Amino acid sequence: MRREPERGVAGDVVEVRNVSKRFRKGDREFLALEGVDLRIREGEFVSLVGPSGCGKSTLLRMIGGLTPTTTGQVSVEGHVVDETHRDVALMFQAPTLFPWRTVLDNVLLPLEIDHRPTKDDVAKARALVSLVGLDEFVEHHPRELSGGMQQRVALSRVLVNDPRIMLLDEPFGALDEFTREALNVELADIVGRGKRTVVLVTHSVPEAVFLADRVVAMGTNPGRILGEIQVPFHRPREASLVRSSEFQDLTLEVRKLLGLE
Ligand SMILES: Nc1ncnc2c1ncn2[C@@H]1O[C@H](COP(=O)(O)OP(=O)(O)OP(=O)(O)O)[C@@H](O)[C@H]1O
Ligand SMILES: [Mg+2]
Repeated sequence: MRREPERGVAGDVVEVRNVSKRFRKGDREFLALEGVDLRIREGEFVSLVGPSGCGKSTLLRMIGGLTPTTTGQVSVEGHVVDETHRDVALMFQAPTLFPWRTVLDNVLLPLEIDHRPTKDDVAKARALVSLVGLDEFVEHHPRELSGGMQQRVALSRVLVNDPRIMLLDEPFGALDEFTREALNVELADIVGRGKRTVVLVTHSVPEAVFLADRVVAMGTNPGRILGEIQVPFHRPREASLVRSSEFQDLTLEVRKLLGLE
């Protein structure tokens, strides 16, 4: 099940080649990522797992064009990434809803960057709010919602531009286990409907395995890729999958890659 990273095959939408990232910490330079190679195929769902500080968010931000690489190159859909890109949507680790805007207006925001929202845009945003189960809250403000509900709004906002590539940085990290599991099943369902490519960052090995076609394990000092594991389970995936022995064997393999076993 363990495989070497594949070499530049046609159909790769994300290509990270020999990337490193240095940050300055005080008067010292610090190597946050070293020798990272990663290729992601169209429609593939990849989870990045690894300990805090191993450079997961940094890698995601580089793919999203928000942080430049120090050496090496990131390409998305065949073009070297040097700025943010409309076809790529990033959902950040911390909720970033605007408190003075309603749920609907938060979801509409990415469209407003291009043009004044049309009736169709509003209908689309409403449909997305409904998709994440928040019909009743469409005119409410973020402060009236729980943390989990706010994350659902952020997820609808990521979907509103119909991005071909979704970069999700611990989207449900701050939530309790119940809410998180429920949202994961929803996310798997929503993503499974399109031919979207998804990169998900998570601390949780079961979450990584449940959602992904491939799990990439990362380590620290310096931040790097330790290895990867293919996830063969067919879709749609039911919540009960996590109790199967195949699932547990696979999470054990990932834990071994991470050096946790
Ligand atoms: N803008 C920055 N300036 C200086 N150092 C940074 C910057 N961004 C990240 N770092 C450092 O780079 C390393 C990797 O950070 P990153 O946020 O990518 O880790 P992470 O794997 O996402 O961690 P977590 O799981 O805690 O979110 C950390 O040591 C962090 O302190
Ligand atoms: Mg992070």
